[in-house]
Amino acid sequence: MSSGAPIAVAMRGITKRFPGVIALDGVTLEVERGELHAICGENGAGKSTLMKILSGVESPDAGQLEVDGVPVQFSGTRAAEAAGIAIIHQELALVEELSVAANVLLGREPRTRLGLRDEAASRRRAADLLQSLESTIDPACRTGSLRVGDQQLVEIAKALSLDASIIVMDEPTSALTEAESARLERTITRLREQGRTILYISHKMDEVFRLADRITVLRDGQHVRTVTRRDTTPAQVTGWMVGREIAGHAFHQSRQPGPPVLEVEGLCLSASEPGRSDRLRDVSFTVHAGEILGIAGLMGAGRTEILETIFGATTANWSGTIRLGGQMVRFGHPREACRAGLAMVTEDRKRLGLFGNLDVAGNVSLCQLSEVVRGGLLSRHAEADLVAGPIKQTGVKTPSIRAAITGLSGGNQQKCIISRWLLTQPRVLLLDDPTRGIDVGAKAELYALIDQLCRDGLAVVLTSSELPELLTLSDRVLVLSEGRVSKELSRAEATEQRIMAAATAG
Ligand SMILES: Nc1ncnc2c1ncn2[C@@H]1O[C@H](COP(=O)(O)OP(=O)(O)OP(=O)(O)O)[C@@H](O)[C@H]1O
Ligand SMILES: [Mg+2]
Repeated sequence: MSSGAPIAVAMRGITKRFPGVIALDGVTLEVERGELHAICGENGAGKSTLMKILSGVESPDAGQLEVDGVPVQFSGTRAAEAAGIAIIHQELALVEELSVAANVLLGREPRTRLGLRDEAASRRRAADLLQSLESTIDPACRTGSLRVGDQQLVEIAKALSLDASIIVMDEPTSALTEAESARLERTITRLREQGRTILYISHKMDEVFRLADRITVLRDGQHVRTVTRRDTTPAQVTGWMVGREIAGHAFHQSRQPGPPVLEVEGLCLSASEPGRSDRLRDVSFTVHAGEILGIAGLMGAGRTEILETIFGATTANWSGTIRLGGQMVRFGHPREACRAGLAMVTEDRKRLGLFGNLDVAGNVSLCQLSEVVRGGLLSRHAEADLVAGPIKQTGVKTPSIRAAITGLSGGNQQKCIISRWLLTQPRVLLLDDPTRGIDVGAKAELYALIDQLCRDGLAVVLTSSELPELLTLSDRVLVLSEGRVSKELSRAEATEQRIMAAATAG
């Protein structure tokens, strides 16, 4: 099965425990020099933990690590970087207050002869790296002002700047659009031509099967098997991941949309900076009860802005009218929107969705505080009762509802946010790229759940960076291009080609 290339990385019998969980249980993995080795597994399988150990972020409780045949022990990421290993993190680990250039070159900024930081050289270097990713992000701008997709590109540029021979990519495309993912794939091809070794975590099977030489499957912290991509199929791999059959996603029975619930007319959103063009221009649409409206468009086309404006989560100036159940509304704060029966799952769970100082239950019950307060005090019993249902429904894997939210795997954090909105029993649900980072099995379950809620009368607006997801779920697809609606497609008309054509129309 092996191609006979030298072993770049060997991990033997790696075990890692966290309070209440064995994240890795004696995992052994060999990666050949120059190969692209994909790591697959359900949410919480241990993929990120294994890669954090390889890149010096975490240290194992047991097991050995070898790089080029030499045993190593990393005391931190700097030690791993010195051994030629760089990681692109799943949960973005950038300093929001700093500029893009500073983040890319953090701690390794070019210096002038006087030993001062050379800003101009930093910006040039960062611009070069971003350009190699075909991105036009300005290296001087504040990182926190960027959208998640752009932040992910900065994270990738940062790993590239280390010039590492072994690069770990933990779900690098989870926040990227199809076009951006294609650019990253071109970068990966270049890196491979340079002989670099890549470890690649992804929940997207098409990506894994396009890129990987070999695939390792983990389940519940254990190594299930390592196979050559040519000798296997996506169905086999997902089968090993979940250890059971996954239901298909076709919703044969068409939904029966009811009366209009959300009507948006002539929505315009002004630019974030003077001199830039408006972010939304004359956007109009209607969503009915029992209907899913998909919103497609490239990154920056205005998908998130539409949802944020409706939800009262924008500080920018906007005009136009929004009607909810026939009543004109204008929400100044998401709290008001919640009260009126709106719920929103944001694309950036770390920045807008999760509260690191609250436990799992606290994060889920957040919007329902009145339900869990007894005599002015938070009742932990009431809270536990409240969250039990949705946590089960979404299949959150956690040692306890009192565990720290930050200890959950990326996909399980997202399921907690989805549990939160389930509790609010909304009339309109705004989903901004809701399944980012969620494994195939959980996705199928979530699609079925959204479909069921919709059949029960919920109106849904959905954006996704994965076109197959939009096509699977939507009754209609609205395509945006540069802040305008460029096309509306019925379920029968919508295809990936038509959506892409409308999204790139000037
Ligand atoms: N810092 C931590 N503290 C406590 N538990 C942790 C911590 N990091 C990981 N875990 C636990 O270890 C297990 C494996 O998590 P890991 O993040 O490796 O999963 P993953 O395979 O990357 O999943 P995903 O696809 O959702 O990203 C999970 O049960 C998780 O809750
Ligand atoms: Mg992970």
